[in-house]
Amino acid sequence: MEDFVFLNRELDAMEKAGLRRRLLCIESGQGPRVWLQGAEPSEKILFCSNNYLNLAGHPKIKEAVINAVREYGYGACSSRLISGTMEPHVALEKRFSAFFQKESALLFNSGWAANEALLGTIPQKDDLVLLDRFDHASILDGAMAGRARFKRYRRDDPDYLDTLLSENQAAQTFIVTESIFSMDGDTANLSNLIELKHRHGAILVVDEAHAVGCIGSQGKGLAENVLDQIDIIVAPLGKAFAATGAVIAAPQAVIDYLINKARPFIYTTAPSPVNCAAVDVVLDILQEEPQRRMRLQDNAEYLRSQLASAGADIGRSTTHIVPLILGEAQKAMDVSQALFKQGFLVSAIRPPTVPPGSSRLRISVQADHTTEQIDRLCQAIQTLL
Ligand SMILES: Cc1ncc(COP(=O)(O)O)c(C=O)c1O
Repeated sequence: MEDFVFLNRELDAMEKAGLRRRLLCIESGQGPRVWLQGAEPSEKILFCSNNYLNLAGHPKIKEAVINAVREYGYGACSSRLISGTMEPHVALEKRFSAFFQKESALLFNSGWAANEALLGTIPQKDDLVLLDRFDHASILDGAMAGRARFKRYRRDDPDYLDTLLSENQAAQTFIVTESIFSMDGDTANLSNLIELKHRHGAILVVDEAHAVGCIGSQGKGLAENVLDQIDIIVAPLGKAFAATGAVIAAPQAVIDYLINKARPFIYTTAPSPVNCAAVDVVLDILQEEPQRRMRLQDNAEYLRSQLASAGADIGRSTTHIVPLILGEAQKAMDVSQALFKQGFLVSAIRPPTVPPGSSRLRISVQADHTTEQIDRLCQAIQTLL
């Protein structure tokens, strides 16, 4: 163990700077309330989960999972290109290509793997990838893994992106954005990006991680009404869908190229067919229970208005992700711990996830939070501030 003293030195330094991260163990299922393990097991109201529609414990999903286990067992036990492609994968991909109105769709084991596969494989050597400065780490790492040049733009300065597109000639240019930004809870200006894409002949990629299921009359995401204008959709399934994995919906050539060249697709075991069964039922629930989306929007609006009137800095949030921006990492840790003592679980988000000086609590509301729970959280925050 002594060999690793150098690691402990850095871990200690992180501790002193309020930047050390630790795992917290939840004993119950995921919901607005959770039970924590520890010296004193306790119940907390959860305000930092992506279980936005509270589908994690939905009875229909449980039933579908149990039936799928009975039929298929659990694992796919091989990569997709060997013997891991099973009927639930094929059926779900077909369903997603229709859902996102694209020629084809392909499943991945995670949103991380999907972004890494897409950006690490599709842009070629003479291409250019333009990323929003706050795009998720998987998008950035995907671009870094690929062969194309990449640059970052600021979404609050559309002229800058226009200039980047004019000044940087490339065989193909890709613009890559999240639809709802995961740490700020604001949305991409899709109509502006679509206009730029057409004017400059670029390819537009939208990661709908935090919007799919939640936004749009059918829950297809922020791009629901402009799907024909978006070239490639990435939809991670571990958030509102309460499953794991991700799907990329795109023209057939993109999907075929990924199947042939994307290392995070080729060299990994296929997702479990049981996970496919869960996701398949979520697609039904999105149609059958639109009230979940409505409750989520109502809760989000209420939370934002209560926090704003408590004098909190919620940045530019317009969605169910509402940051409470606090500044230094230690302050975010202190507020998180104080809320924890009062029965709330809202973890602190610190650098490098967010830029230095903008540490925050990333508050995420769920469809099943009650007004009383939101009120109690906002009152506690007001007192602490
Ligand atoms: C915008 C965005 N894309 C991709 C991912 C990665 O998805 P996954 O958790 O399925 O790896 C996340 C996860 O937080 C995300 O916020």
